[in-house]
Amino acid sequence: MKYTNEINKRKSFAIIAHPDAGKTTLTEKFLLFGGAIQTAGAVKSNKIKKHTTSDFMEIERQRGISVATSVMTFEYRDILVNLLDTPGHKDFAEDTYRTLTAVDSVVLVIDCVKGVEEQTKKLMEVCRMRDTPVIIFVNKLDRDGKNPFDLLDELEELLNIRVRPLSWPINGGKDFKGVYNLYDKSFVSFAANRKATDDDIVPMADLGSPQIDELFNAQDAAQLRNDVELIEGVYDEFDKQPYLEGKLAPVFFGSAVNNFGVKDLLDTFVEIAPTPRDRESSTRTVQVGEDKFSGFVFKIHANLDPRHRDRIAFLRVCSGKFERNKFYHHVRLDKDVRFANPYSFLAREKNIVDDAFPGDVVGLFDTGNFKIGDTLTEGENFYFTGIPSFSPELFKELVNKDPMKTKQLEKGISQLTDEGVAQLFTQHNGNRKIIGCVGDLQFEVIQYRLLQEYGASCQFNTLPFYKACWITGPKQKLEEFIRFKGANVVQDKDGHLVYLAQSEWYLNTERANNPDIEFHFTSEIH
Ligand code: G4P
Repeated sequence: MKYTNEINKRKSFAIIAHPDAGKTTLTEKFLLFGGAIQTAGAVKSNKIKKHTTSDFMEIERQRGISVATSVMTFEYRDILVNLLDTPGHKDFAEDTYRTLTAVDSVVLVIDCVKGVEEQTKKLMEVCRMRDTPVIIFVNKLDRDGKNPFDLLDELEELLNIRVRPLSWPINGGKDFKGVYNLYDKSFVSFAANRKATDDDIVPMADLGSPQIDELFNAQDAAQLRNDVELIEGVYDEFDKQPYLEGKLAPVFFGSAVNNFGVKDLLDTFVEIAPTPRDRESSTRTVQVGEDKFSGFVFKIHANLDPRHRDRIAFLRVCSGKFERNKFYHHVRLDKDVRFANPYSFLAREKNIVDDAFPGDVVGLFDTGNFKIGDTLTEGENFYFTGIPSFSPELFKELVNKDPMKTKQLEKGISQLTDEGVAQLFTQHNGNRKIIGCVGDLQFEVIQYRLLQEYGASCQFNTLPFYKACWITGPKQKLEEFIRFKGANVVQDKDGHLVYLAQSEWYLNTERANNPDIEFHFTSEIH
């Protein structure tokens, strides 16, 4: 294998969290350790805090920031870490889900006061679909949170994964003393806001040692000994294999804002997290070590300048070596394309790259050739699978307010949905356009961008649907279903049949009445 060294050097991952758990803060601390930024505050939160129509400038600002910080690359202990950012706002969750298809592992941040939250569950479901390895960081230990044992139970129960603590907090809130590292058997005492360096680490292999009684009062020392004994009794020794298979999540405790427990987490991450792996395609498993290049587009970002319609497509390299100015095969369009100015992302700067290897992400200038899920190869015809569309939860009919601008509207909505801003459905045997989104904010973004970038004005009428399911089955059964349920059957952009259910009751009824038809909640994009 030609590129083994390059592949083994790379770890690509994402930090995921329910908003406010501390994703931005942890990202910043990682970048500080990686030397990619020098000062705290350099990474801006990409959250949209308000939700008003006058907040469009905020949306624009957010789009600008998220291009700059979409991928952050830094080196730590000889490992090249690619950290892929995910939007903070839940209305952009689908963008996050898709980014998860381009990483090899994730770090999940949990707020110790709130525990598992709504978005935490959804994000984990997506990770479980691909067996993505997960490391959990329980954050905000400087606050009075839930009991750590209860938290571990909650994680196992609600996230449906086995957990194994690798560090353990000594108290919490204002009595927080520090964390004991169960992995390399050492202790780091807590001091707010300092950069925990190797000097702060006290080796403590023997918990019977009188050193512990010197460091803590009798109660805390006894508690630590009891807790560790209990953990060692209840949990198996940490085993890397089930972690790599996505079946076991190691858990760390700390406080991101105080830079506490972050180094333990990062050290373990670079040690155990997977390097780029083989990937499934429509025809075969593509081995990461193959000489020939392949990759896929997982995200498309519109240019901020509305006068230029060009966009940036984010391509994850899956095998071989990507080279600037070399022709590659665009499988869906069946044409060869090359890129004169591909970007890499080093912290907040964009740099032109000459080559990239598996695990890397390159930004490609695009004038409308790409849509999400597109595959590039060195000639072979296959596409990468496992990049699904998710069932939207809000549906509105798109109404054209200016008949003179019909063409612009059609083009605009087609390009915006290629970018993955929302999903477009057309009513079976009709022209009605239905837009499906995960959050209300996306409709506002679409309306705004159609006007600003395409000069088309539209209006949205709410439709009473609650879920979209892709349907497959024998032709005759599907035709029968359409005959009876025509008003609820639409086609997605690729011509796949989709059933829009008004309520859970309707969905269950149709499933029961049509046992030959399969109802899917995600669709492969192809
Ligand atoms: P997010 O990206 O996951 O949405 O979360 P973010 O990092 O923005 O953190 C959310 C809030 O939690 C921030 O406060 C941040 O300072 C705080 N935070 C992060 N880590 C810790 C921690 O370890 N302990 C405590 N006590 N707080 C933490 P904010 O008030 O929303 O913003 P800011 O004004 O402090 O920046």
